[in-house]
Amino acid sequence: MNEELILAIETSCDETSAAVIRGGKETCSNIVSSQIDVHERFGGVVPEIASRKHVETITRIIETAIKESGYEAKDLSAIAVTEGPGLVGALLVGNVAAKSLALALNIPLIATHHIAGHIYASRLEHEMAFPSLALVVSGGHTELVLLPQEGVFHIVGRTRDDAVGEAYDKVARALKLPYPGGPHIDRLAHEAEEELVLPRAWLEQDSYDFSFSGLKSAVLAAINQHRMKGIELNEAALAKGFQQSVIDVLVTKALRAAKQYHVKQLILCGGVAANRGLRAELATACDRAQLELIVPSPKLCTDNAAMIGAAASIKYRLAQFSGLDMKADPGLSL
Ligand code: KG4
Ligand code: ZN
Repeated sequence: MNEELILAIETSCDETSAAVIRGGKETCSNIVSSQIDVHERFGGVVPEIASRKHVETITRIIETAIKESGYEAKDLSAIAVTEGPGLVGALLVGNVAAKSLALALNIPLIATHHIAGHIYASRLEHEMAFPSLALVVSGGHTELVLLPQEGVFHIVGRTRDDAVGEAYDKVARALKLPYPGGPHIDRLAHEAEEELVLPRAWLEQDSYDFSFSGLKSAVLAAINQHRMKGIELNEAALAKGFQQSVIDVLVTKALRAAKQYHVKQLILCGGVAANRGLRAELATACDRAQLELIVPSPKLCTDNAAMIGAAASIKYRLAQFSGLDMKADPGLSL
């Protein structure tokens, strides 16, 4: 059987990306253009600017992805695109491009969920085994997703307020560190010799949900107290305390859910999966529980189109295609 060749497009936030994926596993090309330098000076993503930047770059990115794949547009089996969730204006740019291509080439359109993409990034480097549990941690998401079988997603826990990456970015901002702040807090936490112990939000005993706004407020209160009293703040100790609180809750809940659902694998994905402390502590906990841990490489953890192509391949095989009237959905549920 000839394996399907999918051109995937991802524009849900501040990365413009296109990729060509063969058979759901092989990355023929994966082009990512980041807008971070444009948004950096505003301390976060500005939706209107993101949309405009996508419009400026999308055509070139798609052309490059096809060229670098070694294939031609006529070889493509389908066009996949992130339907949601994300910024509506940003999603629309990718959606219009995908529909135009599907129409021009007369091939199917596959609407793909962004989180399904983050999870299926795993398949580009590893064998997936079911049931599987994914801990999805990014700037917009914090979710524990159970996959009882291929292509089936049950959210067993989610954040009730801030996403982990969002909390990292807000704490970094309060410490006057550049955007995105996650890597800076991660570095500070590693340099720390002391730890300022901060609260952990465990919520109800059986809950797999998360909450990070209380922790964020505790950090902001500590910063303000020091400033008001004119005492020098041990920023590294604060970063370590924040990071340790986040890691303790994420690792404990992920391992508890993995045990309850008898999963064969734990997948750590999303931009925050780059966090050294989280990777190390999750690896130790999984080792102890004799559970396989999969962490896609950093370039597949942050937003990219290859992951969308990998997730879309499941839908391709089930012929789950969308019409050209498909609408980008910023609040799309999994
Ligand atoms: O998945 P991603 O690239 O974009 C979203 O879909 O949100 O994730 C970006 C987020 C940002 O909040 C960034 O601060 C965070 O991932 N991040 C980190 C680290 N590297 C990136 N957070 C903690 N530690 C890191 N090393
Ligand atoms: Zn993402």
